[in-house]
Amino acid sequence: MAGRHALMTGLVAIVGLFYLSSVNGLTCLFCDRAVNITDCLTQKASCKDNDEQCFLDKTILPDLSSVFSAGCRSQQVCKLIASAVGKRDSVACAQCCSDPINNATLIPCNGYLCNQNPQPAGSTCGVCDRVSDPKDCSVDQQCQPNEVCKVNTLFTGGVLKYELGCELKTICDKILKEYKGTHTTVSTGRRADHGDLTLCSACCDTLSCNKEKCSEVIKTQTCHNSTICG
Ligand SMILES: *[C@@H]1O[C@H](CO)[C@@H](O)[C@H](O)[C@H]1NC(C)=O
Ligand SMILES: *[C@@H]1O[C@H](CO)[C@@H](O)[C@H](O)[C@H]1NC(C)=O
Ligand SMILES: *[C@@H]1O[C@H](CO)[C@@H](O)[C@H](O)[C@H]1NC(C)=O
Repeated sequence: MAGRHALMTGLVAIVGLFYLSSVNGLTCLFCDRAVNITDCLTQKASCKDNDEQCFLDKTILPDLSSVFSAGCRSQQVCKLIASAVGKRDSVACAQCCSDPINNATLIPCNGYLCNQNPQPAGSTCGVCDRVSDPKDCSVDQQCQPNEVCKVNTLFTGGVLKYELGCELKTICDKILKEYKGTHTTVSTGRRADHGDLTLCSACCDTLSCNKEKCSEVIKTQTCHNSTICG
C-alpha cells in the first residue's frame, strides 16, 4: 500500500511538472479535478514541445462521483500511466492525443477522450477589459445560452485596446447587418459610453474565438436570426 502511494505521489509530481507548459506546439484543454468536463472548456494550455500530448484523466472519488483533469503531458508519462490504468482502481480512464483542434468546435482533442463529448451550454469566451493584444486575454468565462463571444477594438488614451466578453446574439446580428451594409469596419467612430472610440465590434461562437483581432473575427461572423441579418 505504501509503495503504491509513493508511486501515485511520484506520478502526481511528474504530472504536475508537465502542467507548467507554454510556447508553441499543441493546444490542450486544461483543468484540475473538474466535476463536469464542460468546466474544462474555460482554460487551455499550450504544450511545451513536440514531446508533449494532450491528456484527459477521469478519476473516481470515494463517493463514486468522478472528476476530470486535463492538460499537456509528455508521451513517456502517457505510456506509463496507460500501463498503470486498471491497476489503480481510482483511475477510470487516462488517455492522450495529439490531433489538431476540431475546426468546428475549436475544442482541443483531449475534450473528446475518455468517451467525452462536451457540449458547452453557452459559448466560452475570453473576458478582458482593454488588453493590448486579444491573445493576451487569459480569463475565460461561460456565457449565457443566448450569448456569444464579442471583441471590440477601442481607441483609448491614444492607443488601440481590445475589449473581450459575452454579447447577446441579437446585438451581434445587428452588428453583422451593419457590417454587411457597409462592408467596412463596423461602428467606425462610434463613441462608447466611457468616451473611448469603438473602432470595430465583432462576434463569434466557438471556444474562446474572440481572442483574435476584431477585423479578422468580423470576416467570419455568422448570422443567428435571418430576420435581422439575412
Ligand atoms: C455538465 O454540464 C452540462 C452543461 O452545463 C450539462 O448539460 C450536463 O448535464 C452536465 N453533466 C453532468 C454529468 O453533470
Ligand atoms: C481545419 O483548419 C486547418 C487550419 O486552418 C485547415 O488547414 C484544415 O483544412 C481545416 N480542416 C477542415 C476539415 O476544415
Ligand atoms: C428574429 O428577429 C425578429 C426581429 O427582431 C424577431 O421577431 C424574431 O422573434 C427572431 N426570431 C428568433 C428565432 O429569435
